[in-house]
Amino acid sequence: MSRPRLSRLPSRANAGRDRGGKRGEHIHHGYWPTPESKAAESKETAQVNLINLLLARSQLPDGARVLDVGCGVGGTTRHLASALGCAVTGLTISGRQVELATRLTKTAAAAAAAKEAGGAVAAPDADGFFALGRGRVRFVELDAEKMGDFFGGAAAADRLFDAVWISEALSHFPNKALFFANAARLLRPGGRLVLADWFRAEGLRDEEMAADIKPIEGRFP
Ligand SMILES: C[S@@+](CC[C@H](N)C(=O)[O-])C[C@H]1O[C@@H](n2cnc3c(N)ncnc32)[C@H](O)[C@@H]1O
Repeated sequence: MSRPRLSRLPSRANAGRDRGGKRGEHIHHGYWPTPESKAAESKETAQVNLINLLLARSQLPDGARVLDVGCGVGGTTRHLASALGCAVTGLTISGRQVELATRLTKTAAAAAAAKEAGGAVAAPDADGFFALGRGRVRFVELDAEKMGDFFGGAAAADRLFDAVWISEALSHFPNKALFFANAARLLRPGGRLVLADWFRAEGLRDEEMAADIKPIEGRFP
């Protein structure tokens, strides 16, 4: 991806709400790959573009077992399940986000079931997964610092993940090295770490530093 300046990106603070005050599904930036897409595509479409860019880069296989770390209200979690048939566990430190994510998932599952004659939303399975499209989704309230022990305890072999996905959450974590150690512990051999976040580009000009970096310096751990 080219290096967009932060000021050209939509405000992430607004990303969870649309202009009418209704909650959106994604709390991450949008990606407009071309000037034409920038002119034509909405913020919501651009947010899905970012997920699809990560999918294209990571080549995540259909049916992968994915851990979506810092999942927000589960927009990506649901997208990976329904588009790729993945079994996705979303984790977030926020109990309120787990509630909202679960509610949005039930609504999406009901809409999907209604398209099939006689379809009904199934209750979650024994592991807490809701069926969604070809995939499955569940949400866990957890501090990511504890994910290694939580998912990687005794008899962990069958709990290992094919991918750890983290979109615009790592910058919130005080101990980033711990996150990478935990991700390595939970990934099966050959598994993939898919990461999108803010990184400071090399060689920024003074005016770019002043416009884009100084205003947010010190606001993240
Ligand atoms: C900017 S939002 C990104 C949400 C989601 N990945 C998306 O792209 O829509 C950051 C997320 O990280 C979560 N988060 C922050 N610190 C966390 C922690 N220590 N453990 C787990 N989740 C955390 C927040 O609750 C929130 O869901």
